[in-house]
Amino acid sequence: MTISQINENALKELKATRSVDDINALSVKYLGRKGALTLFLRNISNLPPAERPEAGKMANQVKKALETLFEEATAKFESVGQGMEDIIDVSLPGRTAQPGSLHPITQITGQVCDIFTRLGFNVAEGPEIESDYYNFEALNIPKNHPARDMQDTFYISENVVLRTHTSPMQVRFMEKHDPPVRIIAPGKVYRCDSDLTHTPMFHQVEGLLVDEGVSFGDLKGILTTFIHQMFDEEISLRFRPSFFPFTEPSAEVDILCVMCRGKGCRVCSQTGWLEVLGAGMVHPAVFENVKFDTSKFTGFAFGMGIERIAMLKYGIDDIRKYFDNDFRFLRQF
Ligand code: DAH
Repeated sequence: MTISQINENALKELKATRSVDDINALSVKYLGRKGALTLFLRNISNLPPAERPEAGKMANQVKKALETLFEEATAKFESVGQGMEDIIDVSLPGRTAQPGSLHPITQITGQVCDIFTRLGFNVAEGPEIESDYYNFEALNIPKNHPARDMQDTFYISENVVLRTHTSPMQVRFMEKHDPPVRIIAPGKVYRCDSDLTHTPMFHQVEGLLVDEGVSFGDLKGILTTFIHQMFDEEISLRFRPSFFPFTEPSAEVDILCVMCRGKGCRVCSQTGWLEVLGAGMVHPAVFENVKFDTSKFTGFAFGMGIERIAMLKYGIDDIRKYFDNDFRFLRQF
């Protein structure tokens, strides 16, 4: 091998080094006692006399140059730690996938369904794209009736809407099943509304119980049991007269403010009470629409917003937090 070949090979191998150990091995290979360059220098005496001075000079230059390059490369690797393989710390634990969990709204829906199924209710589900008939008409809310203003509706066409509440499930279920009826219907609902306490999509749970001799007392009993299990056994609640077209009489149910315990604060607008749900005795007009015998059967219905329950239970003042998908928020539940 000529001196320039030795030099070329050494430079090529130097480029491939990744650590101080690689450099040391290279140094032994070329400059060590049995190294290629050392052997070359030792064999100079075998060359024709005329070539010896030139070859010796070149070999010494290459030797010096390689020594300098190897030193520089060693210093470079030392300055970034212990060479590339040491930068990757194989003893570190691996990156694990983040474990998922149920969304708080899903959790609360599950809790509501658990409480009511223990009370003998079945879960029924239905379409989110709903006809005007089921969403309004059959629930005693005729076209042009002022009660339609209570719900800002997304219309898909003149007679098709995104359901504004889960109440249409009352009608759908009663059309297909004879009394007795005991259902709850959870699901997504839509209203053209957006602020601190409203999002265009939210969740409701509807309840319906129809049988012979059902009274307002039964409604009070079931809802009181539910609220005590959902919030706490001690919490006070009240039934306040209200209006819904599909129930008569109608009521809204309030719980004592979870923040101030009735003293009056910003959350309860100084009233000491927080509204949790709407309810009432099923209006005879609704029964007539599904051909139930109103002389024989009575029933009650109720509806609540899941986000509202979740906000009250966890003390959240901005509904939008549930839909921002910020892990720091969601991980707390
Ligand atoms: N559908 C009503 C709403 O979205 C809530 C409601 C009130 C449902 C009274 C009922 C009821 O079943 O009886 O505002």
